[in-house]
Amino acid sequence: MTPMLVGIYTCTMSERLILGIESSCDETGLALVALPETGAPRLLSHALHSQIDMHQAYGGVVPELASRDHIRRVVPLARQVLGEASKTMADVDVVAYTKGPGLAGALLVGAGVACALGAALSKPLLGVHHLEGHLLSPFLSADPPEFPFVALLVSGGHTQLMRVDGVGRYELLGETVDDAAGEAFDKSAKLMGLPYPGGPHLSRLAGGGRADAFDLPRPMLRSGNLDFSFAGLKTAVRTHLVRLGLLEQVDKLADPENQAALADLAASTQAAIVEVLVKKSLAALKSTGLKRVVVAGGVGANKLLREQLDRACAKRGVRVHYPELHLCTDNGAMIALAAAMRLQSGQAVLSTEPAFDVRPRWDLSTV
Ligand code: KG4
Ligand code: ZN
Repeated sequence: MTPMLVGIYTCTMSERLILGIESSCDETGLALVALPETGAPRLLSHALHSQIDMHQAYGGVVPELASRDHIRRVVPLARQVLGEASKTMADVDVVAYTKGPGLAGALLVGAGVACALGAALSKPLLGVHHLEGHLLSPFLSADPPEFPFVALLVSGGHTQLMRVDGVGRYELLGETVDDAAGEAFDKSAKLMGLPYPGGPHLSRLAGGGRADAFDLPRPMLRSGNLDFSFAGLKTAVRTHLVRLGLLEQVDKLADPENQAALADLAASTQAAIVEVLVKKSLAALKSTGLKRVVVAGGVGANKLLREQLDRACAKRGVRVHYPELHLCTDNGAMIALAAAMRLQSGQAVLSTEPAFDVRPRWDLSTV
C-alpha cells in the first residue's frame, strides 16, 4: 500500500476514515480517527467546544440552550478537524455520532448533522453508545489496556462497574441506585456555593482542607453487592452547612472566615465519594478475579481517585488504565474510536438509510 503523509500522521490508502460527532450534553466534540486494516485506530485530529460558560449562569445544563449551541458549533468544528488532518468530507468513510444516552434535543443535533452528511455524500452512519465511547477511550492513551478488564464508569449521569471481555461484550456488575458520582460532586459543590460543573471546583477547594474534618456517610459500602448510592451524601452536606450557618449565605466563599470550613467540607465529601468508588472497584476485581481496571468518564479526572486507586491496585498487582486527562470528559475522539473498534471487531451495524433516531435512555449492557 502506498503510504501518504497526512499532517504529521502517515496514512495508507486502505485505511478507513471515521468522523465522530459527540453532542449528548454540554460539549460539542468532533474528531477524525483512521482505522488501518490491521493494528490500532489512530486519532488524527479532534476539536471541542465546551458550553460550561454558557450554562454556568443557570447553575446547570439548560437543555434547550445546549441544543441550540450544538447547532452553532458542529459544522465549524467539523471543518476544523478535517482541515487539521488535511482531509475533506469526501475522504470520510463512516460518519459516527452519539446515539444515546443523553439529552434528547442535544442528541438530535448530532444525529441530524450525521444524517445530512451521510445522505448528501452517500456515507454510511454509525450510532454510538456514549458510555461505550468513555469505556474505550483509554485505548487512545499511550498505555492502552488489554481485554478483559473491570471498568469503572464514572460520569455526570452514570456510575457503573462492568466486566468487559471485548468490544460489545459488557456485563453490568453494579450501578448507582440513585445519584451518579459526578452528580454527587456537582450537587454538593452547588450547596457549597461553587460554580457548575462542581466536580473540578470541589476537588480544587478540597486541596486546602482536612478530609477527616466532617463525618460523612459511605453509602452501601457494606451492601454486599457492587451497587452504589450517593443521594444521601448531598443531604449530609446540606445538614453540615445548616449547622455551620452557611446554607443560605450568599457568596459564602467570598468570606475568608468561611473558606477553611468549606475546604474541610469539600475534602470530606471528596474523600467519601472516592473511598466508595475505590472499595467497590476492588470488590469488583476480587469477584471477577481480573487483574486490570479501566477508569472512564469525567470523574476519572479526579486526582484523589487516581492516587487512591493507583495505590490500592499497586498493592494487589492490578494494572489501572485511564484515558488521557483531556479525553476523560465528553469528546468526539471517543465516539470516533468506539465506532472504529466496532468496525474492526465486525460488530458495527452501519446504516445507509438516514435513520434519524436517538436513544436518550439506553443501557450499555444491551448494546
Ligand atoms: O463524562 P462527563 O464529561 O459527562 C457525562 O457524560 O456526564 O462527566 C462530567 C462529570 C461532572 O459531574 C463533573 O463534575 C465531573 O465529571 N468531573 C469531576 C472532575 N472533572 C470532571 N469530578 C471530580 N473531580 C474532577 N476533577
Ligand atoms: Zn460523558
